[in-house]
Amino acid sequence: MEAFEFHNPTRLIFGKGQLDALKKEVPKFGSKVLLVYGGGSIKRSGLYDRVIHILNEIGAEVTELAGVEPNPRLSTVHKGVELCRTHGTELILAVGGGSVIDCAKAIAVGAKYEGDMWDFAERKAAAQAGLPLGTVLTMAATGSEMNAGSVITNDQTQEKLGWGSPYAFPAFSILDPEHTFSLPRDQTVYGVVDMMSHVLEHYFHVPTNSPVQDGFCETVLRTVIDTAPKLVEDLHNYEHRATIMYCGTMALNGILNMGTRGDWATHNIEHAVSAVYDIPHGGGLAILFPNWMKHNLKVDVSRFKRLAVNVFDIKTEGKSDEQVALEGIEALRSFWNSIGAPSTLKDYDIDDSQLEVMAEKAVKFGPFGNFAKLDKQDVLEIYKASL
Ligand code: NZQ
Ligand code: ZN
Repeated sequence: MEAFEFHNPTRLIFGKGQLDALKKEVPKFGSKVLLVYGGGSIKRSGLYDRVIHILNEIGAEVTELAGVEPNPRLSTVHKGVELCRTHGTELILAVGGGSVIDCAKAIAVGAKYEGDMWDFAERKAAAQAGLPLGTVLTMAATGSEMNAGSVITNDQTQEKLGWGSPYAFPAFSILDPEHTFSLPRDQTVYGVVDMMSHVLEHYFHVPTNSPVQDGFCETVLRTVIDTAPKLVEDLHNYEHRATIMYCGTMALNGILNMGTRGDWATHNIEHAVSAVYDIPHGGGLAILFPNWMKHNLKVDVSRFKRLAVNVFDIKTEGKSDEQVALEGIEALRSFWNSIGAPSTLKDYDIDDSQLEVMAEKAVKFGPFGNFAKLDKQDVLEIYKASL
């Protein structure tokens, strides 16, 4: 196990009817609230009305930033920063999925910074302060509701970069599984792929003694594999929604990876694809992760074998370790296909014309990946295998 320090300040408020917690949480930070949301799903589901009703009840002065895009844009962050400055915002309230929350995080630190918050994504500066942020999550996927990370797309340069800061942790996050009932099947599947990918990123770490962490990861993966097929056939099932929501948060709130440094190359490779083609993050991961695995099989075949056996129940008798490992990778791909995730870039009409451009974006900060270091050539090979 590597040395580590763990601190997660987000108050997690989980379960049916927990929206009412806004009444006690919001006044802790003030009365001037910037409400941030996406393209309208919260209006269609009725959640917007319920949030506004509560905010009115407690006398909050509400300003709104609507229309945050999936793969949120820097130009939208700028609009939010401007609103905070004009209205003296005391709390940002993000109601939506990972994109809305990520955008709200960028606004929170951007409002307390004299320059452009893109400096944080470019690693030119580190945030020194942030406005408080609360979230009401409507999609189980990113874990953004309980972590310090955010991913923003610069519309001018077509770059999609992740950044993080202790000032970006939400102060509180309200997770009512019923708020995800309206999430359509395809987005539910993308969320499932994303949370599994987060666990897999942790799982592929440099070998250290980490039996508890590895076991936690395997339990989350097995649970998602057991629950997701039932959920996609029964989207209003509270228990399945609750299980998946809890898994999504646990997958990326720092608990599974204490003392282990995950790989994270596949996320970087995917961000370069969705920067150019604006595809859903989970869809991109479903295509790329199995090919990252095959590309790096020989780095430590025992790790892939362990995944195959402990998560996918692959039998080992009479087979080489490599064979078992490959069967595990195929089992992952076919599980994702079985719930409706894509498996090739062609599924998004992506051909080989932009591979160089995407690979160049992926290596912007040099070779990357902790389990296996990838350079531009490796990235190109993974893209080509994904066509
Ligand atoms: O915009 P609205 O109208 O709200 O619709 C959204 C959007 O179209 C819709 N949706 C969300 N909740 C809904 C709903 N529709 C009906 N009912 C509901 N309850 O779903 C669509 C996708 O939403 P989005 O927020 O984009 O999805 P997700 O949560 O997967 O977030 C994706 C973004 O997060 C980044 C990704 O790169 C991508 O930009 N990530 C952020 C991470 C983090 N902060 O830790 C880590 C991840 O690895 C990821 O990279
Ligand atoms: Zn992800």
